[in-house]
Amino acid sequence: MKKSLFEIVSNIGIAKSVWKMVLRGDTSDITKPGQFINIELDGFYLRRPISVCDVNGDEVTIIYKAVGKGTEYMATLQPGVKLDVLSGLGNGFDVAACGDAPVLLGGGAGSAPMYLLAKELIKAGKKPSVIIGFNSAEDSYLEEDFKALGLDDVYTTTVDGTKGIKGFVTNAFEHLAVKPDYHYICGPEVMMKVVYDALECDGQYSFEERMGCGFGACMGCSCETKYGNKRICRDGPVLVKEEIIW
Ligand SMILES: Cc1cc2nc3c(=O)[nH]c(=O)nc-3n(C[C@H](O)[C@H](O)[C@H](O)COP(=O)(O)OP(=O)(O)OC[C@H]3O[C@@H](n4cnc5c(N)ncnc54)[C@H](O)[C@@H]3O)c2cc1C
Ligand code: FES
Repeated sequence: MKKSLFEIVSNIGIAKSVWKMVLRGDTSDITKPGQFINIELDGFYLRRPISVCDVNGDEVTIIYKAVGKGTEYMATLQPGVKLDVLSGLGNGFDVAACGDAPVLLGGGAGSAPMYLLAKELIKAGKKPSVIIGFNSAEDSYLEEDFKALGLDDVYTTTVDGTKGIKGFVTNAFEHLAVKPDYHYICGPEVMMKVVYDALECDGQYSFEERMGCGFGACMGCSCETKYGNKRICRDGPVLVKEEIIW
């Protein structure tokens, strides 16, 4: 974990209440997809944890949904503002654990960490499929970015059917060109539980638990697993399928 100042390079709206922020700083502790950064905001007691969507040299990209006072404040921040950031937090996804044909599943804001994961899997010689789910077309993003990585098997699902396949991420399973041999997922718990029940193959699940410190000191994010209690911020946010107790 590293505590340092990052400068906002850009902060733009990309969907309804969804913002993409590029920050410049010391990214050396960000080593795996699925890790997160924890951002201090002026006037807020707790930092706000946000997943790493992409890293390029000294720039890190995050995508966040404005859901409350902290993220609404983030959406007002202009380029040039410096933020105190804890970087390199969390265990991240293990890209070596899967076979050649994993499926990446993102629900809403949980789609963001799937982007860096897709890049790392491609680098490792694998060909992931991607399914990202949203409520409506106006909430959706990232499909074109995944396609620009050279991936063909990329699907957006929307609950109201205004974009892509109507329904939930599970409704896209029948469209996949290759039967997945492994899955990686991040999204609302209810969505992850449905996928857990629907897919027989192994997988890794990223949990967006509410957090206090974000680095293992307060036990505020402790959850029970089959291998004992784990702190989602430090021992997670990624848990393997077999250890999860819903
Ligand atoms: C490891 C991790 C990675 C995350 N990555 C992302 C990301 O990439 N993009 C993104 O948009 N969000 C992400 N989140 C969720 C994000 O941290 C919260 O939405 C944010 O902290 C809310 O702050 P707020 O002050 O705007 O809202 P608050 O005023 O604190 O809360 C507003 C609403 O958001 C809900 N909320 C608050 N914290 C969380 C949380 N941790 N998880 C789910 N719901 C929450 C509350 O229940 C409430 O309904 C992540 C959370 C974790 C723990
Ligand atoms: S948030 Fe403090 S231990 Fe996880």
